[in-house]
Amino acid sequence: MAKTKTIAVLAGDGIGPEVTAQARRVLEVLELDIAFEEAPVGGAAYLAAGHPLPPETLALAARADAILFGAVGDPRFDGLERALRPEQAILGLRKELGLFANLRPARLFPGLEDASALKPEVARQIDLMILRELTGDVYFGDKGRGFTHTGLREGHDLMRYDEVEVARIARVGFEMACRRKRVLHSVDKANVLETSQLWREVVNEVARDYPAVKLIHMYCDNAAMQLVRAPGQFDVIVTGNLFGDILSDQASMCAGSIGMLPSASIRAWTGENGLYEPIHGSAPDIAGQGKANPCAAILSSAMLLRHSLDLDAPALRIEAAVEAAIAGAARTPDLGGTLSTTAMGDAVLAAL
Ligand code: IPM
Ligand code: MG
Repeated sequence: MAKTKTIAVLAGDGIGPEVTAQARRVLEVLELDIAFEEAPVGGAAYLAAGHPLPPETLALAARADAILFGAVGDPRFDGLERALRPEQAILGLRKELGLFANLRPARLFPGLEDASALKPEVARQIDLMILRELTGDVYFGDKGRGFTHTGLREGHDLMRYDEVEVARIARVGFEMACRRKRVLHSVDKANVLETSQLWREVVNEVARDYPAVKLIHMYCDNAAMQLVRAPGQFDVIVTGNLFGDILSDQASMCAGSIGMLPSASIRAWTGENGLYEPIHGSAPDIAGQGKANPCAAILSSAMLLRHSLDLDAPALRIEAAVEAAIAGAARTPDLGGTLSTTAMGDAVLAAL
């Protein structure tokens, strides 16, 4: 008999606990051989243990087969020094666990055409995968505050990538493109940034190993524009940490709601220690009110089963159940409906 798998549940702040609870319900109903272990993270962990990513939480994450993550961020802690802010928990987990490949699939579930910010006929084209590099770029470069020689306050964040970091995410992108439509868009800002120039060079070098994939380089500003003009041209988009952060939020609204987009953060093709989280944040404005859409968290749990536990069949079942619930007009407020978080969870469970 296979060994019981451990999932670390790090629910975090704001709506994180509410949506994660629904994802966990769905996983539990499937009666897989899974043990859940919870630990505090983000602002909740700062309150409980004085640090957004306490050593015990990191140790659990490192030991677990996979991590189900909610959200971090709490305006009460915005005044803290950067190292203690809730966001450092997710950045620390990504970095410490080496989760450099972030998969953010965006597709329009049939029935959500009206929720999309785009015209229905344009929205229907969206079915793409944003592959975001997650452990480098301006997120992790040198940062600082100081003064100019005339005494003005200044701040800086260094954007940098080395060739190994670019090559490994590019390779994941090409492999993914091979499994999908064999078109890969690499998004950068090579007309202005030296970092992007290197990115483009290295992506071109990796491309030689994938002659069957059509590679298209696109500047980030143009990609943002094309994403709302004609999203059907994209299938896999590979890009750096900052551009990927921005483009994935944009893609989510094109696909209906940010409440629908899951993500997986992995180390290329090993799902070990993979981290699964909705791409939305903690949404403090609606926290604790039962208004949050749990679909992104539920769909993240499907990605968890697929990538970290190698359980494709139940992952497909969960995805089909969300699709069926949506087709059956189940809608939380972000989708123009009135269902509570729990009621939306009920609708998905009923479809399961
Ligand atoms: C995301 C979030 C995070 C990021 C924040 C919470 C640090 O926006 O996962 O997209 O910027 O990566
Ligand atoms: Mg983001």
